[in-house]
Amino acid sequence: MGVEVSTTGISKSFGAQTIWRDVSLTLPAGEVSVLLGPSGTGKSVFLKSLIGLLRPESGAIHVDGTDIMMCSTAQLYEIRKLFGVLFQDGALFGSMSLFDNVAFPLREHTRKTESQLRRIVLEKLELTGLLGAEDKLPGEISGGMRKRAGLARALVLDPEIILVDEPDSGLDPVRTTYISQLFLDINAQIDATFLIVTHNINLARTVPDNIGMLFRRELVMFGPREVLLTSEEPVVEQFLNGRMVGPIGMSEEKDEAQREREQALVEAGHHAGGVDRIEGIIPQMQATPGMPERRAVARRRARVREMLHTLPPAARAAVQASVAEGDEFEVGDGHTRPSAVPDLAER
Ligand SMILES: Nc1ncnc2c1ncn2[C@@H]1O[C@H](COP(=O)(O)OP(=O)(O)O)[C@@H](O)[C@H]1O
Ligand SMILES: [Mg+2]
Repeated sequence: MGVEVSTTGISKSFGAQTIWRDVSLTLPAGEVSVLLGPSGTGKSVFLKSLIGLLRPESGAIHVDGTDIMMCSTAQLYEIRKLFGVLFQDGALFGSMSLFDNVAFPLREHTRKTESQLRRIVLEKLELTGLLGAEDKLPGEISGGMRKRAGLARALVLDPEIILVDEPDSGLDPVRTTYISQLFLDINAQIDATFLIVTHNINLARTVPDNIGMLFRRELVMFGPREVLLTSEEPVVEQFLNGRMVGPIGMSEEKDEAQREREQALVEAGHHAGGVDRIEGIIPQMQATPGMPERRAVARRRARVREMLHTLPPAARAAVQASVAEGDEFEVGDGHTRPSAVPDLAER
C-alpha cells in the first residue's frame, strides 16, 4: 500500500506575496485525491512543497511519518525516492527516445544491468499503453502519448506516492478521460497514493476518492468526494459549474461591486456561461474490468463510515445513496448488502 502524506498548518510565500497559509490535509494511503483550484492559487507550489523542492515557512509535512521540513538532506533524498511526479509539460528530454526518457531515473539512481533496465522500462511502457513507441522522440508523438510517457517515467522507480500536475492540460476531453482511467488502473495495480492537481471539473467529479480546493490563499475544504461535490459553498458551486457569477473573477477574485453587476446581468437574462447545473453526485469511475480491485475502495469505505456522523447532511445523504445503489459499497461477491443502509442510518 502507498504511504500517507499529511500537511499540518503549512504556509508559503514568495517575498511579500502569500501563496497560501495554514494548509492542513491528509492524503490517505493508497487513495486517489484531487486538489482543485483556479489558476494561480498555488497548486503547483503545493506539489513542489510535498517533495521538498520548495520550502514552506511554517508548519510540518509528514511523508510516511517523517517530517520532511525537519529531516536531514540525506533523509530527504531517500524520501524523494518514494515519489513519482508527472509534471504539467511531461518534462521529457526532447532529444532522447521514449525508452531513454523512461530509463533515465533508473540510470541515475540505480545500478541495474542493461537487461534488467530494459525489462523494467518495457513493463512501464506496456502499463501506459506505449509498447511499440519506445524508439520515438517526444516531438514525434501526440500530447496524450507524451503525458503517458511522463507517467511511465514517474512509475519507473516503483513509487509509493504519485503526484500529477494538471494531467488534462493540452488534452481533449476524451484523452483526459483515458489518462484518468489509466490513473485508476495504475492505482488498482500498485495501490499507490495519488494526488492530482487540476482545474478540470469532469475529472474532479468522476475520478478521486477525496477532493480539496484552494482559493484565496486558503484550503477551502478537503475530504471525501461527497463533501465537496455536495457543497453549497459559493466558490465551490461556481467552480464546479464553470460560471462567471460568484466569488471567482477574471483575475483571481472579484470585488463586491463587480459581483453585483454580474448578478444583475444574469438576472436580466444574460448567460453566465457553464453548462446546466448538475445536481447530486456522478458515480465514481472504476478500474477497468479485468484489473485487480482497487484496495483503496474498501479502506475508504471503512474510513468514511467512521466519519459519517461528522459530515454535512448533504454529504452524508450522498454516501448513503451510494450505499443504497451498491455503487462503490458492493460486498466482495458483487451483491449489495440490503442491511447496509439502516446500519449507516443509525449513526
Ligand atoms: N519560484 C517561484 N518564485 C516566485 N513566485 C513563484 C514561484 N513559483 C510560483 N510562484 C508564484 O506563485 C503563485 C502560484 O503559482 P502556481 O503554484 O504555479 O499556481 P497554479 O499551479 O495553481 O496555477 C503564482 O503567483 C506564481 O507566480
Ligand atoms: Mg500549476
